[in-house]
Amino acid sequence: MSTQPEKKNKVTINTLREMKARQEKIACLTAYDVSFSLLLDEAGADIVLVGDSLGMVIQGLDSTIPVTMDEMIYHGQIVSRGLKRALLIMDMPFMSDASVSQAVENAGRFMKECGASMVKLEGGADQRELVETLSRLGIPVCAHLGLQPQRVHKLGGYKVQGRDQAGAEKMLNDARILEQAGADLLLLECVPAVLAKALTEQASIPVIGIGAGNQTDGQILVLYDILGISVGRIPRFSKNYMQQTSSIQQAVEQYIAEVKSRVFPAEQHTFN
Ligand code: KIV
Repeated sequence: MSTQPEKKNKVTINTLREMKARQEKIACLTAYDVSFSLLLDEAGADIVLVGDSLGMVIQGLDSTIPVTMDEMIYHGQIVSRGLKRALLIMDMPFMSDASVSQAVENAGRFMKECGASMVKLEGGADQRELVETLSRLGIPVCAHLGLQPQRVHKLGGYKVQGRDQAGAEKMLNDARILEQAGADLLLLECVPAVLAKALTEQASIPVIGIGAGNQTDGQILVLYDILGISVGRIPRFSKNYMQQTSSIQQAVEQYIAEVKSRVFPAEQHTFN
């Protein structure tokens, strides 16, 4: 029996499934340090992701590719100290899942050393064996389809995915296989709204979108994009909430309120 005091109303994979069933939107953000993770948790974020986007917004890199496991662990441990309610997802960085055994070891580190409740993996049906293995070992998985920034060189750039019939069908099939393999959550990045809607309807697990229209079960954005402080251009699918307030807390609360009330994302944040 645990000697730890139970954390009240902690978000679990069951909470997320119940939210999907109730059609209550799931509000998610990235975080990289404890000050922000505390703030997001208190503002009511349901999920906090330590994304490998930290390579770009924290480290000033051109892509997420150089981010290492040790760097992710460092940020994951810090972020987890601020979370009481939100579910913590750790992003598997480039090459940390190059083989099933490597991925199992790395995902295990996120669970043990960061207190993560889930790991996120880029990749489609090719990740089936890994998802099955993690699932069997009790490690919840968020599968990441659509634009996969770790595969930017293979994709030929940061582009919307699934625009043509073949791409859309492949994504629907990938999603089916990953769910059957045991994925607990699906994240769609830069996907046309109509395809994201079909994927959300097909899935019995919750689907979170970023640049995927307003029909998914939830939304995620990079924290520094919504605060207007990311290095370089803020993506079209994001929104700078600091344009409406001078308070970071209010900006985060406004984002969460707009996700919950389906105001965000609007047409201008959507790919059709
Ligand atoms: O790394 C990250 O922050 C992500 C989000 C863009 C979803 O994967």
